[in-house]
Amino acid sequence: MGGVPELHPTYPVQTERLRLRPLTAADTDALLAYRSRADVCRYVPFEPMDKDVIAQRLATHWATTALTDEGQSLTLGIELAETGELVGDVILFFHSLTHLGGEIGYVVNPSFEGNGYATEAARAMLRLGFDDLGLHRIIGRIDERNEPSAKVLRRLGLRQEARLVHNELFKGEWSTELDFAMLAEEWRAQQ
Ligand SMILES: CC(C)(COP(=O)(O)OP(=O)(O)OC[C@H]1O[C@@H](n2cnc3c(N)ncnc32)[C@H](O)[C@@H]1OP(=O)(O)O)[C@@H](O)C(=O)NCCC(=O)NCCS
Repeated sequence: MGGVPELHPTYPVQTERLRLRPLTAADTDALLAYRSRADVCRYVPFEPMDKDVIAQRLATHWATTALTDEGQSLTLGIELAETGELVGDVILFFHSLTHLGGEIGYVVNPSFEGNGYATEAARAMLRLGFDDLGLHRIIGRIDERNEPSAKVLRRLGLRQEARLVHNELFKGEWSTELDFAMLAEEWRAQQ
């Protein structure tokens, strides 16, 4: 691999049924529809959001459209190709330049769950992370009780590597964390 690893996707990133693209202010209501819900936020590291928080995220973290250094993250909206509706969002973190390590996360509006959209979108982020950014290892970290999320990671082919019992005081309760991972060679073997 030559040069410094960077990711500059061409938008939209197309999959079979989805278009992944940066979020904009026009997505505010669609984002509020799920990111303001306590049930959606139960196991994710953010609280239910209001319009102000969404505006602030749009102006900061979500304004990133490329990954050029460690410590950055790329959040993309998940849009249905057929209708143009925003059904959720996915994230790819670039954690370490030295170790070529990343992480994925995803949130889907409950009205659109059960269609495989999170898996399809997250698979596209694995492709960007491994094939385009050149990552060596991508992880997924979840609360053990978040069974739908564990199923997404298993469907993607990530291996469970660890179960950290009550390792974090998360939203007022002890959370048992499951750690999943995939290596670039495992990704390539899947293709
Ligand atoms: C985690 C979360 C994204 C999972 O959503 P989901 O819709 O269950 O996940 P997918 O998009 O992969 O869909 C999988 C389901 O669709 C079904 N499905 C239907 N059509 C499908 C298709 N064409 N392809 C794949 N799956 C399909 C699968 O059978 C599966 O259902 P099952 O779990 O009952 O077996 C969602 O629950 C969520 O947003 N939760 C809140 C946020 C959160 O916790 N995020 C994770 C933080 S770690």
